[in-house]
Amino acid sequence: MIKNITNDVYYVGVTDWNVRNFHGYHTDSGSTYNSYLIKGKKNILVDSVKYLFKDTLLKNIKDCIESASLDYIICNHAEPDHSSSISHVVKEYPNIKIICNEKCRSILSSYYDSSSWNFKIVKDGEGLTIEDNNFFFYNTPMVHWPESMVTYLANQKILFSMDIFGQHYASSCLFDEEEKLSTLLYEAQKYYANIVMPYASQVLTTLGKLKNLEVQIVANSHGLLLKKYLPKMIELYTNFAKGINKNKALVIYDSMWGSTEKMAFSLIDGLKTNLNLEIQVCDLKVTDITKVATEAIDSKVIAVGSPTLNSNILPTVAKCLCYLEGLKPQNKTCFCFGSYGWAPICVKKIQEYFEKLKWNNFCEPITAQFNPTENILQNCFNTGKELSNI
Ligand code: FEO
Repeated sequence: MIKNITNDVYYVGVTDWNVRNFHGYHTDSGSTYNSYLIKGKKNILVDSVKYLFKDTLLKNIKDCIESASLDYIICNHAEPDHSSSISHVVKEYPNIKIICNEKCRSILSSYYDSSSWNFKIVKDGEGLTIEDNNFFFYNTPMVHWPESMVTYLANQKILFSMDIFGQHYASSCLFDEEEKLSTLLYEAQKYYANIVMPYASQVLTTLGKLKNLEVQIVANSHGLLLKKYLPKMIELYTNFAKGINKNKALVIYDSMWGSTEKMAFSLIDGLKTNLNLEIQVCDLKVTDITKVATEAIDSKVIAVGSPTLNSNILPTVAKCLCYLEGLKPQNKTCFCFGSYGWAPICVKKIQEYFEKLKWNNFCEPITAQFNPTENILQNCFNTGKELSNI
């Protein structure tokens, strides 16, 4: 269904209610692939949608411009969730021009047979006037891919921000102000943590580059469009990119026969002695890594526990730490613990990840053979108490 955003600018994207796994990202409510149409003497599409929804996109375009031609498509980002319907749009409108930067053209040409496509290549900061519309294009490398760019429609003060400020969130709402602020910010945090987190320095560069634009609407590529809460979103991105943490501790663990879990619970009891500390607990038997990354990004303390299994850690813990290693949460104080039968290898393996993540070890690990004694549990409690006050 098409929706009016401003005079002459329409939402023609789609809602993917049923997607639950977006290349590993657990999308609890689904997601959206946002696409926009600027209607006028020349009709201009901004980004497309995942190919599974190409027919809906084409219908939305026709509902909007009827039998008129579609003259341009601006491609801000070549990742297939936004580019994989372009071939179908070109087939329907063979005279269309594809506006993108050179890197994007190159990536599109490796994904699709673009030999017949008519490209208009734009440079960083370049302006382009199409009839009544004045566009400016800004490259935003690595937010989220090397070719990523955003498009500013100056005469309407709309920033087509591609993945930036997105959320993998499906709802019946279109704008931020229709949704609870806490939901919007949590979904944006989840998106940032799982998609954008490794590119903190590029995020700061991008925010600096865009800060002087007068923006009334952010028309992003996923989730709710921003109007009212754009300042909150900029603050969120700035804090994350600078590695600013909350007064918050995250305990991540899995357990075989309950021994590591007992240690985790004693540690948590110690953390709870600081009533001002937010505590999040992720038992990896029942918690997906998307949630772990979301909680990790603004935690100042991260504790990880695993028993030894086959001279290693549990696969759930290894998967989680491997994921975090790629996402690179910054500026963390860490601690590890675990139980074992005959070889306390678990904590050594966890510490190898801590080292790669450049986190600061708070103290020596605590281990328990088979079953933690009262003394060991007391040590876990005391460590939690000390950690709660750093
Ligand atoms: Fe939504 Fe980086 O693509």
